Order: sequence, then structure tokens, then C-alpha cells
Amino acid sequence: MERRQERIQEIDQIIHQYMPQTEGYASTVLSAMNYTVDAGGKRLRPMLLQETYRMFGGTERVVEPFMAAIEMIHTYSLIHDDLPALDNDDYRRGRKTAHIVYGEAMAILAGDALLNYAYETAAKAFSMTTHLTEVIQAYTILTKKAGIYGMIGGQTADVELTGKPLSEEVLKFIYENKTGALLEAAMMIGATLAGASAEAVKTIEHLAGIVGMAFQIQDDILDVEGTESELGKPLHSDEENGKTTYVSLYGLERAKAEVEHLSREAVKLLDGFPNRQPFLRDLILSLVHRKS
Ligand code: IPE
Ligand code: IPE
Ligand code: MG
Ligand code: MG
Ligand code: MG
Repeated sequence: MERRQERIQEIDQIIHQYMPQTEGYASTVLSAMNYTVDAGGKRLRPMLLQETYRMFGGTERVVEPFMAAIEMIHTYSLIHDDLPALDNDDYRRGRKTAHIVYGEAMAILAGDALLNYAYETAAKAFSMTTHLTEVIQAYTILTKKAGIYGMIGGQTADVELTGKPLSEEVLKFIYENKTGALLEAAMMIGATLAGASAEAVKTIEHLAGIVGMAFQIQDDILDVEGTESELGKPLHSDEENGKTTYVSLYGLERAKAEVEHLSREAVKLLDGFPNRQPFLRDLILSLVHRKS
């Protein structure tokens, strides 16, 4: 756990290096971008990205702009997810949400700006290595998994079907995309940049998808029985919004059992790699009992 805090600090420094300065005539939006990124969070996506890169033997700094970029994309997705038109939440990462502090228009633009700047940032990797093919592949994974065939696709179904009953199949689609896709991107980019084989990247995608499913079910559990101070975001947002979740469909007991089951499944896949890392294994297992 101590190691985890250390890792978060290292990751924060990397992200910080790539964030833009708050200055000039667009400073309100620059300030809103930095406000939400600086609020912290678990930094799970950059952490998974870097750990997977290391697991496949990567040692270059080319991984760093991708780590910053994926956290920017994740943070933009949170700013937009919290907007009144979506989940209408007032707290995030222990702070008032961007739209409460800066107003809705600036929050929308800060989200847009983070998304766009994420791609500007990831593009810096093109001039940082001679392994261009891998960087192109990694960049392509990022664009796809963040988009309509990934996170945005999942958010679309989540928002459109709010207040409506869902089948298990549609719920699975939502979780795989709104949450799973960015975790898949993180681990696939790490593996790809390190030169892992196409087959290994496929297995990593599958593994990360399972982690994503467990992660979102745990998020639903915490929405019901977490504490606001630990979570840094409001409880009962799902119920207030009339969201169908894994918990509302199957109850807390089954949801908890499913998180355990999926996490063990993911670790089993990880253990199939000869080069697996204990930190990554522990990280995946720690998500089962996380409180934030
Ligand atoms: C929240 O993600 C949104 C979901 C996909 C459930 P995190 O729980 O990773 O949020 P931060 O980055 O730690 O704030
Ligand atoms: C959101 O899922 C996933 C995103 C892509 C932002 P939730 O709406 O459950 O995430 P929280 O609970 O607000 O963090
Ligand atoms: Mg949401
Ligand atoms: Mg939400
Ligand atoms: Mg939630």
C-alpha cells in the first residue's frame, strides 16, 4: 500500500509535466482542467498502463505521454459525467465538481479541452522513440477505446437508458464500454508500447475487460454502501437518477460475489504470463475491497 502511494506520486509528477499552464485569454478553461486533474483520484489507468509496460519489459519514457493522456481522457469523462444533463453530481474527488465551480459552459469546454489535449499529448510520443509502429498502434488503441466504440458508446447507452429497465446483455454492454474500455486501453497500450505480441495484447484486453467489469460493479456497490468522505463523490447517485445497476438488478450479496469472482479470474489470466508482476497482481486484487 505504501508502494501504491509512492507510485501515485510518481504518476502525479508525470501528469503534471504534461498539463498546460493556466494563462492567457483561455485561462478559465485551463484552470478548470487543472482543477479537476489536480484533485487527484486513484490514477488507476496510468498505473495499469505503466505496470503493464514494465511487465512486458518496457523501459523508455515514451510511455509517459500516454499515461498523462489517458488520465486526461478519464478526467474529461468524469467532468462530463457529472454535468446536470448526465448524472448531475456536485462532488468529485473530494471537491465541488467543475460545473459547480466554473459553470456549465466552462465545464463542457474543459472536458472538450482535456480530450483534445490528451491527443496532442499522446502525439508527443511520436518523436520520443524509434519504435514508431508500436506508438502508432498504441495511439490507435487510445482513440478507439475512448470513442463511440468504447467509453462514449457505453456512456451513450447508460444515459439514454437511465430510468428504464435493462437486460443483463445491455448492462454488460454499458459496463464493458463506459468503464472497461479505458482500462483495456491502458493495459493494451502498455503491452503494445513494450512490443508484446498481438496474441499477448489480446489476452491483456480480455483480462482488462474483466477488471473493468469488476471495477464498475464495485463502483455501484460503493454508491450504495461507501462513505462520501472516502469516495470523494456523493452516495446514492445511481438511485436518485433511476439507474439500473448490477446492484439494483441482483442485490449487494451477488454483486460482491461477482467482484470477487471476476477479480480472481483476471488474476488467473495474469498468472498465465511468465513475466507477471506482483505489484500488478496485488493492484487488481486490491480493487475488490477498495473503499474509494
Ligand atoms: C470513476 O473512476 C468512474 C468509473 C469508471 C467508475 P475512478 O473510480 O477510477 O475515479 P478516480 O480517477 O479515482 O477519481
Ligand atoms: C461513469 O460511471 C463512467 C464514466 C465513463 C465516467 P458512473 O457514472 O457510475 O461513475 P461515477 O460513479 O459518477 O464515478
Ligand atoms: Mg454516469
Ligand atoms: Mg456518475
Ligand atoms: Mg458510479
